[in-house]
Amino acid sequence: MHIQSIVVALVAPILASSYRFNPLEHSSGIAPYFTPHDPPLEASPPQGCNVTRAAYLVRHAAIYANDFDYETYIEPFVQKLHNTTQKWSATKSLKFLSNWTAPISDDELEKLTRVGLQEARSLGVTLNKRYAHLKKPTKLWSSTAERTVKSAQGFIEGFTNNRTKLLNLTQVAESKKAGADSLTPYKACSAYSSSYGSDQSENFMKVYTKPIIARLNAEARSFNFTEDDVTGMFELCGYETVIRGSSPFCSLDLFTPDEWLGFEYTNDLQYFYNTGYGRDLSPSLGFPWVNASVAALDEESRSQELFVSFTHRELPPTVITALGLYNNSAYTGANNVNQTMPQNRINYNRAWKTSQILPFLENIAIEKMSCQSYGYDEGSYYRLLNNAGPQPLVDCQDGPGGSCSSEQFHDFIRQRRELFGDFNKACGDKHLPASLSIYQP
Ligand SMILES: *[C@@H]1O[C@H](CO)[C@@H](O)[C@H](O)[C@H]1NC(C)=O
Ligand SMILES: *[C@@H]1O[C@H](CO)[C@@H](O)[C@H](O)[C@H]1NC(C)=O
Ligand SMILES: *[C@@H]1O[C@H](CO)[C@@H](O)[C@H](O)[C@H]1NC(C)=O
Ligand SMILES: *[C@@H]1O[C@H](CO)[C@@H](O)[C@H](O)[C@H]1NC(C)=O
Ligand SMILES: *[C@@H]1O[C@H](CO)[C@@H](O)[C@H](O)[C@H]1NC(C)=O
Ligand SMILES: *[C@@H]1O[C@H](CO)[C@@H](O)[C@H](O)[C@H]1NC(C)=O
Ligand SMILES: *[C@@H]1O[C@H](CO)[C@@H](O)[C@H](O)[C@H]1NC(C)=O
Ligand SMILES: *[C@@H]1O[C@H](CO)[C@@H](O)[C@H](O)[C@H]1NC(C)=O
Ligand SMILES: *[C@@H]1O[C@H](CO)[C@@H](O)[C@H](O)[C@H]1NC(C)=O
Repeated sequence: MHIQSIVVALVAPILASSYRFNPLEHSSGIAPYFTPHDPPLEASPPQGCNVTRAAYLVRHAAIYANDFDYETYIEPFVQKLHNTTQKWSATKSLKFLSNWTAPISDDELEKLTRVGLQEARSLGVTLNKRYAHLKKPTKLWSSTAERTVKSAQGFIEGFTNNRTKLLNLTQVAESKKAGADSLTPYKACSAYSSSYGSDQSENFMKVYTKPIIARLNAEARSFNFTEDDVTGMFELCGYETVIRGSSPFCSLDLFTPDEWLGFEYTNDLQYFYNTGYGRDLSPSLGFPWVNASVAALDEESRSQELFVSFTHRELPPTVITALGLYNNSAYTGANNVNQTMPQNRINYNRAWKTSQILPFLENIAIEKMSCQSYGYDEGSYYRLLNNAGPQPLVDCQDGPGGSCSSEQFHDFIRQRRELFGDFNKACGDKHLPASLSIYQP
């Protein structure tokens, strides 16, 4: 035996066993909360640095199902299961369908699940610990939908250890006339439509579901699986897991890891063209939160040091574009937005992965730090965290741990304001409030 092949024989099984594909980390907007270690920078402050203030934007925690997913994919699939003459016991990967029952009913739609509420509480516990040295906040914010309010209330329970009177929730209307002065600015913006991205994602849905449909139909000849059925089945993995704790639809005997990557990419296309880099509007929708949050971190006279707001899945990706993170084109010197997300095949090396950008309880943070760190000037530095993982700015990493020095950070924010600071112009609206004022006392 060659030395090389001996080494391979010894090492290969160890390497192979250290990686297990987890479909839940590829479920896009239905992914339960997880921290991606990509890039693998340390979440704790860099050496010599203390966090002095922080602002968080959080998507609500896990819900039973959103209306669109339920009505378009899940309910029709469940109805079809009730009607079918297919004998599932005779199949291979679909046996479980003979006694499977749907975990969702009409009246639970859009509501937080118990798992979701628990996760919102534990985020509260985690942030209370992480920022134990900061002044306790007295206020936090959420949009008015039941799921954002309930998530905020769960967070408060965790953060205050059930002394909920210590932290007041301010509800912010989800209205058209609020313009950018809300946690749902896209709802006020005429140029935004929730259907953007559907065409692009449907193009790829046809591609990746084709072999799956052929395989399932060969196994179960009477059911006639469609693209929508298959989509509903992928979605049930996430939803059933956040309701019941596990789901047979997550089994890798049903859909292979490669097939999951197809489902994930279809969703990535949807949000890329809806609230991501695929639409020029996106950064203008996210900028007001960035601008107001940076101002809140900088106003020393303000007594609050930690700012937390709850919203829906659409806002965090726009904030991410306003900050220039997860940009497929970064470091390329070109900006061929569409070419980075082809609709007939997968760009496996893309940066834009919605499982990391808008899972349940997605949270993006701006931390302001005071540093006295070897090799760096003493002073203020800023850094961004996505689900607790540091995400350095593309053009500013001159501080410890990939953070950005105060002067350069404010230059960056000024440049973004020039590009994306005119909400009315970007939206084709007139006279709507053009900035976010929720933090004002
Ligand atoms: C199920 O069967 C009922 C009664 O035959 C029919 O009205 C309904 O359209 C069918 N639903 C589906 C999804 O096939
Ligand atoms: C379906 O049957 C399997 C095997 O008998 C059992 O383990 C499972 O709990 C059943 N599921 C339901 C929803 O009844
Ligand atoms: C806080 O209250 C919730 C619901 O009332 C309860 O489930 C939880 O265990 C309580 N937590 C603590 C730390 O007492
Ligand atoms: C919460 O709001 C109530 C009513 O406005 C007020 O009395 C209380 O002091 C507030 N709590 C905190 C912690 O600020
Ligand atoms: C299978 O479903 C497709 C799409 O809904 C439909 O056009 C077709 O007629 C169905 N075929 C059978 C055999 O039921
Ligand atoms: C994404 O990166 C490209 C290439 O560096 C750059 O031209 C473009 O402005 C970036 N997009 C945003 C919204 O920051
Ligand atoms: C990118 O794609 C969008 C939507 O498909 C289209 O409107 C836009 O013109 C394309 N941009 C370029 C530069 O080709
Ligand atoms: C960070 O906090 C520690 C403990 O409070 C303190 O000793 C240290 O001087 C602080 N460092 C900076 C740079 O503020
Ligand atoms: C940015 O924040 C400043 C300071 O709070 C405010 O005056 C300005 O109107 C804001 N601009 C936008 C576009 O949000």
